[in-house]
Amino acid sequence: MLSIAEKDLGTPKRESAELVTLTIDGQEVTVPAGTSVMRAAALSDVKIPKLCATEQLEAFGSCRLCLVQIEGMKGLPASCTTPVAAGMKVTTQNKQLADIRRGVMELYISDHPLDCLTCPANGHCELQDMAGVVGLREVRYGYEGANHLTVEKDTSNPYFTFDASKCIVCSRCVRACDEQQGTFALTIQNRGFESTVSASQNVSFMDSECVSCGACVQACPTATLTEKSLIEKGQAEHSITTTCAYCGVGCSFRAEMKGEEVVRMVPNMDGHANHGHSCVKGRFAIGYATHSDRIVKPMIRSKITDPWREVSWEEAIGYAASELKRIQAKYGRDSIGGITSSRCTNEETYVVQKLVRAGFGNNNVDTCARVCHSPTGYGLKNTLGESAGTQNFDSVMKADVIFVIGANPTDGHPVFASQMKRRLRQGAKLIVADPRRIDLVRTPHIEAEQHLKLRPGTNVALINSLAHVVVAEGLVKEDFVRARCEMPSFEKWRNFVAQERNSPEAMEAVTGVPAADVRAAARLFATGGNGAIYYGLGVTEHSQGSTMVMGIANLAMATGNVGREGVGVNPLRGQNNVQGSCDMGSFPHEFPGYRHVSDDSVRALFEDAWGMKLLGEPGLRIPNMFEAALDGEFKGLYIEGEDIAQSDPNTQHVTAALTSMECIIVQDLFLNESAKFAHVFLPGSSFLEKDGTFTNAERRISRVRKVMKPKSGYADWEITQLLSNAVGYPMNYTHPSEIMDEIARLTPTFTGVSFDRIDELGSIQWPCNAEHPEGTPTMHIGEFVRGKGKFLVTEYVPTSEKVNARYPLILTTGRILSQYNVGAQTRRTENNAWHDEDRLEIHPQDAEDRGIAEGDWVGIESRAGDTVLRARVTERVQPGVVYTTFHFPESGANVITTDNSDWATNCPEYKVTAVQAVRVSQPSEWQKRFREFSETQETLLKSADVMFVDK
Ligand code: SF4
Ligand code: SF4
Ligand code: SF4
Ligand code: FES
Repeated sequence: MLSIAEKDLGTPKRESAELVTLTIDGQEVTVPAGTSVMRAAALSDVKIPKLCATEQLEAFGSCRLCLVQIEGMKGLPASCTTPVAAGMKVTTQNKQLADIRRGVMELYISDHPLDCLTCPANGHCELQDMAGVVGLREVRYGYEGANHLTVEKDTSNPYFTFDASKCIVCSRCVRACDEQQGTFALTIQNRGFESTVSASQNVSFMDSECVSCGACVQACPTATLTEKSLIEKGQAEHSITTTCAYCGVGCSFRAEMKGEEVVRMVPNMDGHANHGHSCVKGRFAIGYATHSDRIVKPMIRSKITDPWREVSWEEAIGYAASELKRIQAKYGRDSIGGITSSRCTNEETYVVQKLVRAGFGNNNVDTCARVCHSPTGYGLKNTLGESAGTQNFDSVMKADVIFVIGANPTDGHPVFASQMKRRLRQGAKLIVADPRRIDLVRTPHIEAEQHLKLRPGTNVALINSLAHVVVAEGLVKEDFVRARCEMPSFEKWRNFVAQERNSPEAMEAVTGVPAADVRAAARLFATGGNGAIYYGLGVTEHSQGSTMVMGIANLAMATGNVGREGVGVNPLRGQNNVQGSCDMGSFPHEFPGYRHVSDDSVRALFEDAWGMKLLGEPGLRIPNMFEAALDGEFKGLYIEGEDIAQSDPNTQHVTAALTSMECIIVQDLFLNESAKFAHVFLPGSSFLEKDGTFTNAERRISRVRKVMKPKSGYADWEITQLLSNAVGYPMNYTHPSEIMDEIARLTPTFTGVSFDRIDELGSIQWPCNAEHPEGTPTMHIGEFVRGKGKFLVTEYVPTSEKVNARYPLILTTGRILSQYNVGAQTRRTENNAWHDEDRLEIHPQDAEDRGIAEGDWVGIESRAGDTVLRARVTERVQPGVVYTTFHFPESGANVITTDNSDWATNCPEYKVTAVQAVRVSQPSEWQKRFREFSETQETLLKSADVMFVDK
């Protein structure tokens, strides 16, 4: 069903240098070759009736409503499937066409419920519209014949219904699922009158392969597929364009509103990252914003064993500031710090780091990007010269070989995965390097050429052996390297990877990947045309995370795959604003724009702007804050939008550090795991309640727009500002646009960015400055940001986390489509219908050795701790490897992960933990303690009347 703000031109846009001029109803129209007659007409404001066509999908030509007359052409062709031709003369309206169209509509309506007035699509139904457009006045066939009016509704999906009695079998839903989403969950069964839409083999939507992306719902021209929220709330009154707050794809949505209530989220066709597509989270999982668990009033307490006390904003901010000042007076300037979040806007993140540097007077600020993509920043900066991915998402449509390393796009970055799958169905080749058989390896109409099923922790060995093949078999793009890279660094690297010890044959024993597969993959990548690398946390979250990022950059440069469309090094950033939080200077050693705090000229710039003397020494990283806390030196922490007690590794170490502090201030939506250790709770705002920007994985800065007032009274940037003023550092922004203006003034890559400019262009990929006034879709064209690309030697150093007789399995972790990270948001939505607990995936052989069957409780013990999860026995994981997600706090996935981390950035080695797994019958000791502690904290919360009540 159409969004209230979308215009649908009927068939997809065509790009062509060749322009074609034709005449439509006597009017001359010029369009790119390949455009349909229907689209050409729509572009010149001539509306041709249509039902089975929509701009998002290739034309199908089934409804026959869009017939036109074309001079010199026999019959009446469908305008949606007929491409324009030079000199073509088209008539869209005459009596013959009108009669035929009316006849078509009569047939449709004779088998359609006549409940328009009570139908949720009333006013937005294309069938209803077309009945009006063709002037339908009677249905000569009557309504008494065979029909589908009594078919039962499928309400199994939590978010939408399927009412087959309203289906006109236009197959838009089937095509949306195939072409746009790439899941192929729907089919049209039977023929003629018996034709019906069926999910999978005629099962309910919930029992089918459907991943609830909603593309079919959006494509449906009738109320057959309808959002339950629309049925419940009625049509929206207005819409506001904003950006999804879940993953690093950064999909643009229109929030369709009724007053302050969101009726539904509709992906924006003009969205540069998503082109009208979405996943189940962005489109449907927003119920958390008005969940009754939300805390909307400030609270304080002296000790974490005390009940929470609801207080005024004034008292909460005053108490927090006085505690921070008291701690600094007693323990010194460096005894406090702050943690920013990749879930918050750029402007919020910027003000938090400014508060720490200027208000606290130290550089003890860090971000959750520490635990995900900090190695990306380090590795890409040192090789290519910029801490960011090189391409836009659309670039994948020009890739010939797609190499996915340590990423699971269909779960982690679903909308981009759909685009990638589209390219793969067009014929691009796929190489996957992953210990686990991710969905992409084999999915409808896609099969990877190579699945390099490496052992966790051996990425660098694998990338070196791939590079060895490129060098040893003469596949280096010598011209590119000579022109674009530092030759001494290349020669050093070449001599290193050429060594026999780096050959696939020598490395096979380490990686577990057959040498022949490595050779085939390397040859394909180096010689298959445009080679594009996409990688994720399976690369970064290792003791050699930064080394692997550099290894990837080396491979891309050696094969000439940087600096144009279709190629590149593309980190798939996890959370919505990981790129932005790093750009905004959230790391303890860097000001916004990745400039080191020790750089005197940069520091002088910020000192001048902020009117404060600033420290030139890097501050504490998150793990160092924990160490300092346990040493009694770090006592106060301001955490905005981050849940370190659940997301950081070695939970018991983290909670011990939190317990040792004297003032923890948590600014969040819910009493999350970290807030259970807090002394001040400042109720934050959801993305629906504030203005600002997010920067996605393509460096794309998009607007977040307020669609409702903050439930707690303040947006997060305002709360930080209140705290800053209270600690004695004045901030006086009146709108987040002023914060962005300050960022632009102080950051060379952002000088052209402003809210007005983003509004004008829709979104902007930084760098955006005088040189790139409309932003930079592809980086490093002609020259690397650092001048010449630098190769770095990437010696493989095995992790110290080793398997032995006591811990014989390797645990690796990841995410699932329906839940998001610590799950604080998605667990408070209907998404639990797909995933309501974390499970341990174990290979049948390992399960049998241990007497473990599907669904059994399994105790998992590592050197750091133990927990209990239920087993999922599957060949998706290889023998010797177990896998789990970490979306539920009581799962305790991070109780098991260790303190090992990347040598350069301290990014934790989440992906490699040596464990033992045994069948058990009760929760672990940690889980029992966790439950008891959580129950106590819930009770202490009940004493305060602070929860959100939806009136
Ligand atoms: S919701 Fe998405 S995956 Fe499910 S049937 Fe519709 S298009 Fe396919
Ligand atoms: S469910 Fe909707 S989109 Fe699918 S065939 Fe029926 S009317 Fe068309
Ligand atoms: S792909 Fe990511 S950004 Fe897009 S709707 Fe899903 S969660 Fe949101
Ligand atoms: S819109 Fe062209 S045949 Fe249906």
